Amino acid sequence: MNIDKLIEQMTLEEKAGLCSGLDFWHTKPVERLNISSVMVSDGPHGLRKQDDSSDHIGVNDSIKAVCFPAGCAAAASFDRNLMARLGSALALECQAEGVGVILGPAMNIKRSPLCGRNFEYLSEDPYLAGELAAAYTNAVQEKNIGVSLKHFAANNQEHRRMSSSSDVDERTLREIYLTPFEIAVKKAKPWTVMCSYNRINGVFSSENKWLLTDVLRDEWGFNGYVMTDWGAIVDRVKGLEAGLELEMPASGGIHDQEIVEAVRKGVLDEKILNRACRRLLEINSRYVENAQPETIWDKDTDNQLSAQLAEECIVLLKNDDNVLPLKKGEKVAFIGEFAENPRFQGGGSSHINCTEIVSALKASGEYADIQYAKGFSIEKEEMNFDLMHEAVETARTTQAAVIFAGLPDLYESEGYDRKHMSLPEGQDRLIEAVAAVNPNTIVVLHNGSPVCMPWIQSVKGVVEAYLGGQAVGKAVVRILFGEANPCGRLAESFPFKVEDNPSYLFFGGNKERTEYREGIFVGYRYYDKKKMDVLFPFGYGLSYTTFEYENLVVDKDRMDDTECVTVKVDVRNTGRMTGKDVVQLYVRDIESTEIRPIRELKGFEKIELKPGEKTTVTFVLDKRSFAYFEMKINNWYVESGDFLIQIGRSSRDILLETKIWVNSTDSLPVHYDMNSIFIDIMSSERGCKLVEEYMKLLFFDEQNSESAEQAITAEMAEAMMHYTPLRALFSFSDGDKITKEKLNRLIDDLNKDER
Ligand code: BGC
Repeated sequence: MNIDKLIEQMTLEEKAGLCSGLDFWHTKPVERLNISSVMVSDGPHGLRKQDDSSDHIGVNDSIKAVCFPAGCAAAASFDRNLMARLGSALALECQAEGVGVILGPAMNIKRSPLCGRNFEYLSEDPYLAGELAAAYTNAVQEKNIGVSLKHFAANNQEHRRMSSSSDVDERTLREIYLTPFEIAVKKAKPWTVMCSYNRINGVFSSENKWLLTDVLRDEWGFNGYVMTDWGAIVDRVKGLEAGLELEMPASGGIHDQEIVEAVRKGVLDEKILNRACRRLLEINSRYVENAQPETIWDKDTDNQLSAQLAEECIVLLKNDDNVLPLKKGEKVAFIGEFAENPRFQGGGSSHINCTEIVSALKASGEYADIQYAKGFSIEKEEMNFDLMHEAVETARTTQAAVIFAGLPDLYESEGYDRKHMSLPEGQDRLIEAVAAVNPNTIVVLHNGSPVCMPWIQSVKGVVEAYLGGQAVGKAVVRILFGEANPCGRLAESFPFKVEDNPSYLFFGGNKERTEYREGIFVGYRYYDKKKMDVLFPFGYGLSYTTFEYENLVVDKDRMDDTECVTVKVDVRNTGRMTGKDVVQLYVRDIESTEIRPIRELKGFEKIELKPGEKTTVTFVLDKRSFAYFEMKINNWYVESGDFLIQIGRSSRDILLETKIWVNSTDSLPVHYDMNSIFIDIMSSERGCKLVEEYMKLLFFDEQNSESAEQAITAEMAEAMMHYTPLRALFSFSDGDKITKEKLNRLIDDLNKDER
């Protein structure tokens, strides 16, 4: 199809119409020109295709589909391959159901455990979120179905989500909030990106040219189309100019008409409209020309896949005295309504109308003599004494007690944020009561975001099952009884309490804005810098086997920032069970003039090893692994110096490290004037030489009398000299030896050097 020819044949009205939805889920067709309508549907962890009544908040039913592990769980796999398996399955479902674009992955950074939509999002770490989203995107698009990376950008709370401004400085935006999108755009070329509802530093994302064009297209090379989040449009014409192609859903023709009028009045250049149509038609034709409506998707196959994926997302958080795995055939208490009715997905636009649900109770039959006690009602906050009594009496007689606890639907959902980080009080009390009578108490958690665990010292085991999809019950039981070896790792830190979270003071913001005052110190970047204890750190997770790490080698110990370094490390399974481990690579800038986190994740690989088996894991690091975003050059910059390459099993468990010198091939612009201070001037060899004679003029050097030496230590004198500006030479030195002309000549000389 020659798209430019097609656009030439379209009327102004048809072109404007193409830029908004036909209805909730379709783009507009232009029948006389054979332009087809394309269907889009939510995502991200299952297909929410609505055939009849439509809505974007999950009120009306969608077709029956398989609910896979939600983002919170999928990310805990730390596994690109798992994301790809998920993406492939969903793409096949889309092909079979005639859906051209699946809305997701949802990849906003988890700034606070309170964000109501954390369950859909991936991580607090931008590298992890970006890598996982890229793997998912590549797999979906390989099958000629598009994705829509969402929600672009800085949409990290639900409170006032359609109006609030996320006020974030640019370095923080670049290093934390934009990086996941950047990685996915560069590595996977998404067909579409969905702009967020919120404003960023006062400008709505839907009309933010800097975001949608300068950064997304011009810097990152995005070549798909941008759609709005549902109803995120503000000024339609401004949006088009900023680089927003598709308004979703429809606006009853109102905004289309605004576009037409703007072109007629000469306010909007028609070329901009043509550009938007071209982008839309290019992407839509990719689907239309490769649609495979004859595809059949098998619900049982996908249900089984859902169980397998869930298994690999579960994180074993505590396993004292190897209380897990449970012995088969034993008498075990299953307590808590979630054992019967697991919570496996969150509320809102990602809500899947499941084909079937497997509870742990249902899945456990063949493994053990299970004694079930309801313990609590999911929707009840307070304790029910009768249910608790029954649960305690049941737990008293069994070898182990597994409590299925978690957050009720009401506690976390799209549309609003959580109020606190606690489980319902009744559940916390039940756990304490059961643990008091049964020494082998294990808690299984169903939640989309961290919870407080006031009972952590009283129980022997904790299994974080997250919102693991419709087959989570089967996965949990297989983990509990050792049929599967836990291999999930936390993609987010679990603080002890919400007040520990770096965004706590500002999260939610006021009526207009939310200030991201913690800056780049999000998640472990903050806890590590503050040396603050956390309940469970980023990257953490246990296994039923053990691994040993050795032979960390790099192929060079000095490099320019234009080069790459290859890092290798050997990992051996030293236990008795086949298992998977996540090898994590962090980079630490040992000494930096910029304020930087202690360490940042720059590589991860999930590997599977049989008992005794060893493998070598390889990472390649480039400039970006060592860089920070330097505002002076509006670009990524490596400050020359030593860096540590650290290999660990969590951000708090570094096992091996090695040093590398990275040399910057960029230089920062420097300009000297009367206010320049000595220490900055002396950072270059030439600067040192040029100011040598002036330093001598400073009286801080002269310490002859004993009392002067007591008053001014050598350290103090040095510091005073370092922080003295050139202009102070007039005040602090022998006036005869220094003139304004002389200093101006010095400044000219210094500036010559740096140009
Ligand atoms: C959500 C999006 C979703 C869209 C369509 C919006 O409310 O924020 O994530 O894709 O609705 O359902």
